[in-house]
Amino acid sequence: MQSGEIRNRFLTFFKKREHAIIPSASLVPENDPSVLFTTAGMQPLVPYLLGEPHPAGKRLANVQKCVRTQDIDEVGDATHDTFFEMLGNWSLGDYFKEETIKWSYEFLTSKEEGLGLDPSRLYITVFGGNDSVKEADEESKKNWMSQGISERRIYTMEGETNWWSPGDNGPSGPDTEMFYDVTEKGLGDLTKEEFMRADEEQKVVEIWNDVFMEYEKKGGKVTGKLKNKNVDTGAGLERLAMVMQGKDNIFETDLFKPLMNAIEMRAMSNGARAKRILADHVRTAVFMIGDGVLPSNTDRGYILRRLIRRAVRYVDVLGMKEGALAALSDVVVETYAGVYKNLSSEKVHIGQTIADESAKFRQTLERGMREFEKISASGISGKEAFALFSTYGFPFELTLELAAEQNITVNKKEFEEELQKHQALSRAGAEKKFKGGLSGHGEMETKYHTATHLLHQALRLVLGEHVIQKGSNITPERLRFDFSHPEKLTDEEKKKVEDIVNEEIARALPVSYEELPIEEARARGAIGAFGDKYGEMVKVYTIGNEKTGVFSAEFCGGPHVKNTSELGHFKITKEEAVAQGIRRIKAVLG
Ligand code: SER
Repeated sequence: MQSGEIRNRFLTFFKKREHAIIPSASLVPENDPSVLFTTAGMQPLVPYLLGEPHPAGKRLANVQKCVRTQDIDEVGDATHDTFFEMLGNWSLGDYFKEETIKWSYEFLTSKEEGLGLDPSRLYITVFGGNDSVKEADEESKKNWMSQGISERRIYTMEGETNWWSPGDNGPSGPDTEMFYDVTEKGLGDLTKEEFMRADEEQKVVEIWNDVFMEYEKKGGKVTGKLKNKNVDTGAGLERLAMVMQGKDNIFETDLFKPLMNAIEMRAMSNGARAKRILADHVRTAVFMIGDGVLPSNTDRGYILRRLIRRAVRYVDVLGMKEGALAALSDVVVETYAGVYKNLSSEKVHIGQTIADESAKFRQTLERGMREFEKISASGISGKEAFALFSTYGFPFELTLELAAEQNITVNKKEFEEELQKHQALSRAGAEKKFKGGLSGHGEMETKYHTATHLLHQALRLVLGEHVIQKGSNITPERLRFDFSHPEKLTDEEKKKVEDIVNEEIARALPVSYEELPIEEARARGAIGAFGDKYGEMVKVYTIGNEKTGVFSAEFCGGPHVKNTSELGHFKITKEEAVAQGIRRIKAVLG
């Protein structure tokens, strides 16, 4: 079964069970400064899992684009990738364990409606208790048994193994995971130890995770129960495609095949792992750029830069020609064009961005490699690693990787110290956010969200209606806003924009929101590039009202202040280019 058919079957299955089908949110989290990328289907739904009513209802399902780089070192094995699609169904205080498990089983095994997988190849794990919640999840176990799963194939896992949370904060709970035997002969009954070994050896593969989110975590601790008992499930499309297509690794599925073929065709040397890493990184880069990320030295731009730079090196390792990366990026776009329309419209921009970044890295790569050879004989000091990083643009892990290949040590601690001393980029911050969880919407972040709407509208008034949001990132310290505009702003234009924003703040305009069908929101002239993100109903935040006059109306998930008078004084601190035709403004509230 092809991946397109798996996507369709999943959505049809849950639609029939009264789930609203919502579109994938962007890979760039809209309102969550604590994570760099959407790492799970539940992430864009956090406010709703915490109790806010979702405009589409209590039962939702979708296919969500995700990026996870925590396991980047494992990319190259059979099942790990940094970009993946997650099929998920959600109950927001509606059904719970019984229906969830029944439907998971039905979808996996039903030939008519689901995947028709062999039930005798399924293994299940359930939660066995941990420090926060002592009781094992007997209810899930019973539910699996009533679906006909033998008790011998259900393993109870203590500790954190079957506890899921997005980080130190947010909705969390026990989970039950489904594994599938991908060996040719079939493994039959396994003891818990045998099962765990089979998992390690990738003879069984986790294909779906049902999380029963009824707890809330704050500061790393479970602090109590959520308002609702929710369900969050996630099944990796690549892995489902792998089992459905009888492959023992994701790179041979139809999702990767065209790309792997294109790599095969161009590669002059063997190296299965190198080819897989290259394929993974190009694919992830394409999706990131498609969602507005650009290579840079901070945060998500730096993650993208690292992926592209590592890909450039593998192009060389495999003896491929320069320019190969941009060609591979086109193959990714073509593979997914039918599913993610934004990729086809951005195809040229994506290829160009990858080509520009590789060219930039190539300017120094050769010299950097020569430098590496020179210093590597006796181990690499932190200072030397830092020089490779700052002068030759070697991401630190590239140095580590090259060193590991030649059995040389690198002084990691000294490198970190150098990095901190120079504060050249916020990679440390990026890593922390990467691994950390979701934070609440702080007071300053909320203010910056509203200030961003004022800025967006002010830019349109001063520069023209071609100004469209291309990206936004908010921290408690500042806002950052990327938008389309062909040239540098003059001092006069910047001043005008600042003045307009400050005038609207001084007018103490009320901020309110309405939930509207997307067509109506558009018809009323609401702006914002969020049309494809929230499904049929969207939230539109309006600044001003009939009495004061409406200054801005924009699609947005919030949060926002109640009145612009809460914002303080607005000041632009930086205006720069981020790409051809895209400008970036950083601004603060004082
Ligand atoms: N949140 C869970 C996961 O990411 C299930 O969707 O695996």
